[in-house]
Amino acid sequence: MRTFLPCATALPAPFRDIETCMHSKRASVGTDMTFSKNKAAGWSRRNFLTTTVASTMTVTLLDRARGQTAPAADVPPDANTPLNIKLHINGRDQRLTLDARTTLLDALREHAGLTGTKKGCDHGQCGACTVLIDNRRVLSCLSFAAMAEGREVTTIEGLAKPDGTLHPMQQAFIDHDAFQCGYCTPGQIMAAVACVHEGHAENDAQIREFMSGNLCRCAAYPNIVDAIKQAKPQMKDA
Ligand code: FES
Ligand code: FES
Repeated sequence: MRTFLPCATALPAPFRDIETCMHSKRASVGTDMTFSKNKAAGWSRRNFLTTTVASTMTVTLLDRARGQTAPAADVPPDANTPLNIKLHINGRDQRLTLDARTTLLDALREHAGLTGTKKGCDHGQCGACTVLIDNRRVLSCLSFAAMAEGREVTTIEGLAKPDGTLHPMQQAFIDHDAFQCGYCTPGQIMAAVACVHEGHAENDAQIREFMSGNLCRCAAYPNIVDAIKQAKPQMKDA
C-alpha cells in the first residue's frame, strides 16, 4: 500500500521533533543503515516507521488539542436556559426566573407585576417605559433585565412614601393637570424626576430640551413644564 509521506520540514514542529529524535536514536544505535541503502527505491523501513508514528501522533495530538481548545467552561450557555436573577426594585429584592433576552420592561410588567411602567413603542422612541436605575433614567424597553441585577431600580410605584404621601413630582402633575389620557404619565414623571436631579430644569427651554425624549400624544407639554417647575424646589427640600 502506498502511503503519503510528508517531508520532515513540512511537518508541524512536534512531528519534526519526532523525526529528528527517531533519526538520532537510530544513528546512535547503528540501525539507520537502511536509510541510505533503500533511499534510491524511494521507500524504506525508516519511511514506514516515520509515517506510522506521525499518523498515530497526529490522531493523538489532535484529540488532545480538541480537548484543550474546547473545555467545558468555554461552551457558550444555551440562550434558551432560563436565568435566575435577583432584582432590587423599589427597595425590595425580587427573585425572577427569566429568559435571558427578557427586557427590563417585560420583567417589570409581566413577571414582577409592576404595570405602572408603560409599553408604548417598545423601540426606544416614546419614553413611556422610563424608569430609574441607580437614579439615572433608562428606557426599560431597550434594557435587558439581567443588566439591572445588583442595581437599584425605581419605577413609578416606588416614588410615593410608604405612608402614601405622593412624591412632589406626582403631586405637581396633579396640580397642573399635566396629563389627559395618562398613558405617557409614568414615564413623564420618572423622566422629570431625573431631569431635576441632573440639574437640567433651570428654565423652560432646558426642561423642554431634556424632556424631549418623552412624547405625549395628548400634547400636555406646557402643563408638564409647569409641573416640573413647581416640583423642583420641593424636591430640594424633601
Ligand atoms: S416603550 Fe420604551 S421608548 Fe417607547
Ligand atoms: S397624557 Fe395622553 S399621551 Fe400623554
